[in-house]
Amino acid sequence: MKIRHLIEPEDLSIEELDNILNLGSKIKKNPEEYSKTCQGKILASLFYEPSTRTRLSFEAAMYRLGGSVIGFSSPKSSSVAKGESLQDTIKTVGCYGDICVMRHHIEGAPKAALMKSNIPLINAGDGGHQHPTQTLTDLLTIKSLKGRLNNLTLGLCGDLKYGRTVHSLIKAMSRYENIKFILISPEELKIPKYIREEILIKKNIEFKETKNLEESLVDLDILYMTRIQQERFEDNSEYLRLKDTYILDTDKLKKAKEDMFILHPLPRVNEISTGVDDDRRAKYFQQVEYGMYIRMALILSLLNIENILKKDNIVDEEIIKSSKKCENSKCVVNYERNIKNIYKIVDKDKSLYKCFYCDNIQRLEGQEDIL
Ligand code: CP
Repeated sequence: MKIRHLIEPEDLSIEELDNILNLGSKIKKNPEEYSKTCQGKILASLFYEPSTRTRLSFEAAMYRLGGSVIGFSSPKSSSVAKGESLQDTIKTVGCYGDICVMRHHIEGAPKAALMKSNIPLINAGDGGHQHPTQTLTDLLTIKSLKGRLNNLTLGLCGDLKYGRTVHSLIKAMSRYENIKFILISPEELKIPKYIREEILIKKNIEFKETKNLEESLVDLDILYMTRIQQERFEDNSEYLRLKDTYILDTDKLKKAKEDMFILHPLPRVNEISTGVDDDRRAKYFQQVEYGMYIRMALILSLLNIENILKKDNIVDEEIIKSSKKCENSKCVVNYERNIKNIYKIVDKDKSLYKCFYCDNIQRLEGQEDIL
């Protein structure tokens, strides 16, 4: 059987996704039943970038399943600090662990790593690109609160450019029926092109882009607030100018429906005032708790301890080799040695291609560009 990985939401079919969510709910109701299911198994936890929830929930998940954890919480304490490559690191980790979770500040790093991984690899967030396990957490939270994942209007507010949780959530929710998105952000922090064009427009999903949070509130079933991501800005003065664009407070909330729920992947900085925490619609700390149970379900699925993932669910897309490096300066090909320049086709007639690692859409033309 081919090894299954989770790098982006599309790595799971809708059926597999729903089965993992059902397993997460089952585990939450009776965690004791699963407390020995991973005995003898080791999770390698590689965090190249800071984390509280994702790292600790993965590690707690593995311990609660009866398994063990190895790894690092900063690359400074590993041989990465001596210049070891990403792909050599993952080959090494595969000699010790049964499953690996990786967070990286570079976009596309987990995808480059999986090419050399002989164990299941989970993307725990790669730069401003994707964060699929936060999405599993979000879906389990929404399903538990609303009883459904279809017929919903979701307001995504804040940093939609760099907010990787938003990108993965749009990818996943776009697969359910009758989903509408209201995308609330300053002009400078709108969703990236690959999400707008390749997901929303291509799939004919209803969406609206606006700057106005207060006007949008009345229509929403879910409000998903996000932090302005200081660490991703090239110009800190730009961050300082935008950082307090949205602050949700109890006064603004008066405009929202009584059954609208407020989610946030956390950490929060200033964008939800602490007064909102006492509103019964504020569910972001409940969301944190769901994160551990869904990661328990994901570990059991990827290790085939629960028979959820199909053997043949890997679609091999057509890949184009190129001499041209990805134009996204934050993409893994611009950081790591020996990573091939490869692309997926977006529109051959218009010479548009998408970077295999980071999804950046760019033009490739002629024999020089396409090998
Ligand atoms: N939601 C999330 O990814 O939080 P951490 O950065 O604390 O892991």
